[in-house]
Amino acid sequence: MPAKCLIRGRRKTRSPTDLKLPVSLTKALTMSQRRLFVTTALPYANGNFHIGHIMEYIQADIWVRYQRMQGHEVNFVGADDAHGAPIMIAAEKAGKTPQQFVAGIAAGRKPYLDGFHISFDNWHSTDAPENHQLAQQIYRDLKNVDLIETKTIEQFFDPEKNMFLPDRFIKGECPKCHAKDQYGDNCEVCGAVYAPTDLIKPYSALTGATPLLRSSEHFFFKLSDPRCVEFLQEWTQDGKLQPEVANKVKEWFSVRTNADGTTSEGLGDWDISRDAPYFGIEIPDAPGKYFYVWLDAPIGYLASLKNLLDKRGESYEDYMADPALEQYHFIGKDIVTFHTLFWPAMLKFSGRKTPDNIFVHGFLTVNNGEKMSKSRGTGLDPLKYLSLGMNPEWLRYYLAAKLNARNEDIDFNSDDFMARVNSDLVGKYVNIASRSAGFITKRFAGQLGKEDPQAHLLYALASSSLNEIRDLYESREFGKAMRVIMNFADQVNQYVDQKAPWLIAKDAARDAELHMVCTTAIGLFKDLTVLLAPILPRLAAQVSDWLGIDVQKWETGLAKLTAGHVIKPYVHLMQRVDVKQLDALFEPPAQETPAQAAIESIAPGGEEIAPAITIDDFAKIDLRIAKIVNCEAVEGSTKLLRLTLDAGEVKLRNVFSGIASSYKPEDLIGKHTVLVANLAPRKMKFGISEGMVLAASHADEKAQPGIYVLEPMPGATPGLRIR
Ligand code: 2FM
Ligand code: ZN
Repeated sequence: MPAKCLIRGRRKTRSPTDLKLPVSLTKALTMSQRRLFVTTALPYANGNFHIGHIMEYIQADIWVRYQRMQGHEVNFVGADDAHGAPIMIAAEKAGKTPQQFVAGIAAGRKPYLDGFHISFDNWHSTDAPENHQLAQQIYRDLKNVDLIETKTIEQFFDPEKNMFLPDRFIKGECPKCHAKDQYGDNCEVCGAVYAPTDLIKPYSALTGATPLLRSSEHFFFKLSDPRCVEFLQEWTQDGKLQPEVANKVKEWFSVRTNADGTTSEGLGDWDISRDAPYFGIEIPDAPGKYFYVWLDAPIGYLASLKNLLDKRGESYEDYMADPALEQYHFIGKDIVTFHTLFWPAMLKFSGRKTPDNIFVHGFLTVNNGEKMSKSRGTGLDPLKYLSLGMNPEWLRYYLAAKLNARNEDIDFNSDDFMARVNSDLVGKYVNIASRSAGFITKRFAGQLGKEDPQAHLLYALASSSLNEIRDLYESREFGKAMRVIMNFADQVNQYVDQKAPWLIAKDAARDAELHMVCTTAIGLFKDLTVLLAPILPRLAAQVSDWLGIDVQKWETGLAKLTAGHVIKPYVHLMQRVDVKQLDALFEPPAQETPAQAAIESIAPGGEEIAPAITIDDFAKIDLRIAKIVNCEAVEGSTKLLRLTLDAGEVKLRNVFSGIASSYKPEDLIGKHTVLVANLAPRKMKFGISEGMVLAASHADEKAQPGIYVLEPMPGATPGLRIR
């Protein structure tokens, strides 16, 4: 079958004459230079990177490095996604302005990006002036073509905080299953989707206040306009998107789920405004109105690019106007709507270039998606990985070996990681160099000889694999590319095994043969390094230095070594993964030793978990929310407090509770707690106790003192039953 190469998404069949044997690997590399603009999703500036971000950046970085190696011009940019209510609220909690808060997060980005060899050309912020200008201009352009309209909508308003509440900051009882404390957009218990106004007894998650319905004028991008629908149907279904993504998007044209859980036909208009106070970009000519964070977030791609080009003294306008420019966005599968509907439509109808493609990946789980406890973090902490001296290129290789062009989830598995790195990278690939390089230095003063003519079949194999590997890189089938490359490494190892240079070296009469075999092995190792260079950039740089050849350029890197070329002495290129490093990586933080953790898991809180009960057993206990309307010390008792409780009944209850060692009466008055409402009344020395309040304590109260009365989340009112 003829080998193929991808040029701008179209396959061009290569001439079979390119594969004549033996053949130099430099054949068939004359594609014209491409101009690529590549981004990854912009992370919210409310926390450090997690391993999911790093996976996306590594995937994009491999692709970008591959393109650069082909001689193409790439601008690869990122930025912090700075705006939105959650960041504004987090900043307030931290006692900072939003700008100070996001600057603090941005300051922590570099160790991750440098540490994992992510080669962004620029890192910017959606709060930068370029983004304000671009977002406002794009909005004006959309308004000019009559794709913006205003509608008055009703929304919840927090009267204490004086702000409209985002859905995620409104909580209440699910209208379907009556689960308490559910978010304003969907129920985590029964999965129902609804509008915040459907919640029963809604409350503000910020203040606990009951929100008020207030109307406000909002700005909408008219996605339902026939021009948008027609354009998006074509843009999403013309074959560029991954098939699984295109199929998902197709559904949104026929039916959509509304905020209240009902369904409607076709694309709905998109609410792009938020009312002050909001950390975002002001909408022109609309005082007190800001763009919703998701309007200006993708514009941040352009802002970062513009910032980069301005710094270089290049024209952003000219660059974007180049018809040959290709624009690609790497994203996770959770933000497909924004990137396949809103973003291309915004660009198209504001008269701008639309993306050439959106590359969607799945999520990364760690050790079979095993949920890690809070104290263990989220599984794989990227900075901890680096601080343990673990090689970032192990992770790059491991992820590459698992990645494909679909949006499937992949799992980081410790055992698999160690096996793949140690057997593929060290055992197969590096092993070729370490078995042959020493002889060149010791016996031939670092000078290479002639290649083995009998190895031509190996070169032929490499040559025929070459276009396949390029296709696989181009189409982001990195896992398949790694398999082809490792298969080539296997063949090279077989050659070295057969020739056994360590045996030839024992016979001084066979010097010429030794020279040839080691030269051949090093030449093939060099070719393997070129093929792996997008994955292992640091190692490739080391090899370039060792061999005195730039192996990070596809064409020159794959050129044959010439006899007489002198190389430096070999320095070992890569260590094996040590299981102790992986143990340390997943070790809980210092204060909790594994032994302690093990004991805790056997007897949490100092006692074994009680024997199982059925839900019917549990239902016999009637637990109710009660408000502590009064609380006083009990004369004659050092242990008891007397609580007067409002459990939503006609009459208040009197309950004695042994919590005096932990609370003063005034600590508790006005608080809500949980009452065992159907516990038979008990006559005590000080009066009758009509129930019991719930409190937590360690089994060994002396060793670990402290009693903690249970308090419900804000919004719970007297009489509500706990289920
Ligand atoms: O989902 C997220 O993390 C968003 N901050 C991604 C934004 S991508 C782009 F649109 F900026
Ligand atoms: Zn529910």
